[in-house]
Formats: sequence, structure tokens, C-alpha cells
Amino acid sequence: MTEIILRTERLNKNFGGLIAANNISLSFERGRVHAIIGPNGAGKTTLINLLSGDLLPSDGTILFKDRDITTLPPHKISQLGIGRSYQKTNIFPTFSCYENCWVAAQSRLKTSMHFFRPAIRLRSVQERAERALDLCGLSHRSACLASAMSYGEQRQLEIGMMLATEPELLLLDEPLAGMGSEESLQVIDLLQRLAKNHTLILIEHDMDAVFAIAEQLTVMVNGRVLETGTVEQIRNSQAVQEVYLGAEEETS
Ligand SMILES: Nc1ncnc2c1ncn2[C@@H]1O[C@H](COP(=O)(O)OP(=O)(O)OP(=O)(O)O)[C@@H](O)[C@H]1O
Ligand SMILES: [Mg+2]
Repeated sequence: MTEIILRTERLNKNFGGLIAANNISLSFERGRVHAIIGPNGAGKTTLINLLSGDLLPSDGTILFKDRDITTLPPHKISQLGIGRSYQKTNIFPTFSCYENCWVAAQSRLKTSMHFFRPAIRLRSVQERAERALDLCGLSHRSACLASAMSYGEQRQLEIGMMLATEPELLLLDEPLAGMGSEESLQVIDLLQRLAKNHTLILIEHDMDAVFAIAEQLTVMVNGRVLETGTVEQIRNSQAVQEVYLGAEEETS
């Protein structure tokens, strides 16, 4: 039987008069890749911000493994096993790759680790940082300053920083944005590897990538869920074709 790892119930977010998330009730299955697509301004990033605790909902509930996390701050949500990457790269440019991952690993250290001696904690942080660099394919760039790397590598590092927190559920906000085709293929490959033992919620405009990686698909328009289902169901949906896929060229 499939397990629901994360569920939202009638989630709402208003910015003044604007309803950026409107009655969002979605279930995300453990171990699956669930993509969220929709035109610019549809509310995709807002939804991720609500799930990660970066925004507080105006109304509704978020359950992670049946635990109510609706009002928890981002660091608590991170410690529970939800990691996120940002649409705009969010790294420390004057730190090396390794240092960026080290900071992420240490800042999200689970409270249970506080009972251990500093030397053990330090080793654990170092190991997490090294594992994350290895996973995101940047081990060979460990000592390189983040600012000296290509944009694609910086996006990879952003994913590495998320992995350093050892999350079960990854929230990825347009990981391919602004990348060339060669770099995109590398990141798609990375996401496919991560999908083997993580749950992914992926916002992405690149439909080829979405169809290559995702199993479940939700289409958002104007803050609402237009439709949700398997990739095949969404591909064949008349409503989606009319409202979203038909307008794909206009949405960057
Ligand atoms: N902090 C905020 N304050 C006010 N309005 C906001 C805020 N964040 C988002 N919005 C508005 O909410 C709506 C949804 O924005 P959001 O960034 O979630 O869209 P999106 O689907 O991620 O779009 P894109 O594909 O361009 O990234 C937009 O109209 C946006 O202007
Ligand atoms: Mg967005």
C-alpha cells in the first residue's frame, strides 16, 4: 500500500487581497517524484514556501508523516526531514563548496545530536558535508570558491546543501532554471539518482524534464489546483491542455 508522506488540507495563503494559494488539498506519496507545474504566478513557489515553513499559511493544515507541522518554523521542519532548494540560488559565494555544505550540515543538525560530545558532532557534520558533495557530483570541486563556479555548478551546490541536511523529502523549486542543456542533463541525472531513495516535490517549467522524472503531476493555475494525477492522466487531460500546456510557449 502506498504511504502518504505529506498532506495538505485546504491550505490557503493570502497576500493582502491576492489569494496565492487557494484551498490546496494534496497528498504526496512516499518514494515518488511529484511535479508541480503551472504558469508564472500560479502559486507554485508559495506552496513550497508553505511546506518548508518559510511562509505561514492563512488557513489550512500541513501534515508530515501524520504530524501537524503547519506552524513550525523552517529549521524545525528541516530537522524533521524536509529539505528545500530555492528558485534563486541561495549559496554563500565567498565560501568553498565544502564549507557551504558544512554550514548546511551543521545548521540543521538534529537536536538528538546535541547529547554527543563535540568531537563526535564535528565528525558527523564533516561526514554529512562530504557525503552531500559526493552525491551532488561536486567532490572534485570541494575546495573551489562557490563564486568561482559556473551557474550550473552553483545550482548543483544548492542541491548539495539541501542534501547535507539529510532530508527524506526534497522540495525543489526550479532546479534547472537558467541552465544550459548540458548542465540540465547533469541535474536531471542527479534528480533521477536522488529519486531512488527520496521523495521529491519538484517545481519545473521544463516539460521534457518533468515527463522524464515525475510520476505524479499537479497543475496549478491562479493559486488553485487545476488537476492532479499520474503523468499519463495529466497528459490526457482536456482542461490542462487548454489552460496550461497550450500556453506553454508564452510562459518561459
Ligand atoms: N511575499 C509576497 N508578497 C506579495 N505577493 C506575493 C508574495 N509572494 C508571491 N506573491 C504573489 O503570489 C502569486 C504567486 O506567486 P508565486 O511566486 O508562488 O508563483 P510561481 O507559480 O512560483 O511563479 P513563477 O513560475 O514565476 O516562479 C504572484 O501573483 C506573486 O506576485
Ligand atoms: Mg516560482
